[in-house]
Amino acid sequence: MQKYVIHGGKPLSGTVSISGAKNAAVAIIPAALLVDGVCRIENIPQISDVTLILRILQELGAGVHLVNRHTVEIDSRHIASFRVPDQLSRKMRASYYLIGSLLGRFGRAMVSMPGGCDLGTRPIDLHLKSFQALGAEVSVESGYVHATAPNGRLHGAGIYMDQASVGATMNAMLAAVRADGTTTIENAAKEPHIVDLANFLNTMGADITGAGTDVIRVRGVKSLHGGAYSIIPDQIEAGTYLAAVTAAGGDVVIQNVIPKHLDCITAKLEEMGVQVEEYGDSVRVVRRGALRRTNIKTMPYPGFPTDMQPQIAACLCLAEGTSVINEGIWENRYRYVSEFRRLGAHIQVDGKIAVIEGVERLTGASLRACDLRAGAAMVVAGLAAEGTTEIGCIHYIERGYEKLVEKLQGLGADIRVVDVPEEDGQQADQAG
Ligand code: EPZ
Repeated sequence: MQKYVIHGGKPLSGTVSISGAKNAAVAIIPAALLVDGVCRIENIPQISDVTLILRILQELGAGVHLVNRHTVEIDSRHIASFRVPDQLSRKMRASYYLIGSLLGRFGRAMVSMPGGCDLGTRPIDLHLKSFQALGAEVSVESGYVHATAPNGRLHGAGIYMDQASVGATMNAMLAAVRADGTTTIENAAKEPHIVDLANFLNTMGADITGAGTDVIRVRGVKSLHGGAYSIIPDQIEAGTYLAAVTAAGGDVVIQNVIPKHLDCITAKLEEMGVQVEEYGDSVRVVRRGALRRTNIKTMPYPGFPTDMQPQIAACLCLAEGTSVINEGIWENRYRYVSEFRRLGAHIQVDGKIAVIEGVERLTGASLRACDLRAGAAMVVAGLAAEGTTEIGCIHYIERGYEKLVEKLQGLGADIRVVDVPEEDGQQADQAG
């Protein structure tokens, strides 16, 4: 087991490059199961969630060839199994994309109910309703989702999402892409990774229009062919570096981003007194003076992303005045608050609302990551805090951030990884 040790209170400077988007990669890699040919997927992030989903594809019988650290070739032509090994799929929330992909490929899927970061109840009823709308019979038995299309074929249908769910929208697309006829997904989620999945599938011969709007139309095709595709940069990784500079101060250029995807984050940072300049595929963030308070409400894209809520909270702990956060997506995304209080933050939580009274300084303490973004937020807070901050359970953070320590060291941060005795650590349980 390992932990991060940060000597904080130093401004950041230099250039950092953003990796491929985790939440696009964990959908696009299973989508390769639908393809009758070799898919070359570029710009995959080197993170543990990607390693896990690639392992699951290998267990299913797909050929997985790592061309280099960020490029993989997947050949699913010879897989014969629609059953996903329980011990692997339970480790990550995104294993639900295997249901849509296998159902779309074989007309049949058997996947363990997904795990995931503990952010609330995290149901998958909307996913299952979508499969049923496409004609599948769905049941949950002994911890497994069983989905079967009678006669092996799904048919196009109208699907209305009661809630704009990212996962259910992408899963409906995966199941519908090779179905007979046309599927219309209304009240679809609009996150950048939804557009990325549609672009990937279209590159392989699918016929999907409207991704990025709230109505997506999928005209079923008989088969998909191989091809090459490059994953978009990670909006949330970029946002986390924006937050790090906001909290610790400094002047940093963040490269390999799509600035448009960051607008929902940069708008709030500018309200807080941070300067953000946009270029073609980079942004420069400068924070020198005091931070001003603001209010945040997390919403589906293009609203402020829930996956940036803990990191922005770290910044607001140091802003002048009182800020209010309203978590609009998950019911349990304030588990980091007790850890932030150890740094001297003043935060009160009541249900989905957090009220933060800014303090002049945070002081280092020993913390424990409790999920991916909470852990990232502890790093952001630790970079700003005076003295030494230690963060344990970093396996959560490494699920979603490629080379976080090296990238921060490149910006002048004093952060390093230290081994801890096994008994002081905590085993990874589930991931989301
Ligand atoms: C995705 O989760 C992301 N995960 C999450 O990122 C992210 O927080 C979330 O979208 C929202 O942006 C992946 O992409 C792997 P949802 P997902 O379905 O798809 C309710 C991270 O840190 N809902 O959009 O599971 C649900 O309870 C992770 O990178 C249902 O009620 O989220 C929630 O309130 C954590 N029934 C809301 O919808 C369903 O069947 C949005 O969830 C599905 C969802």
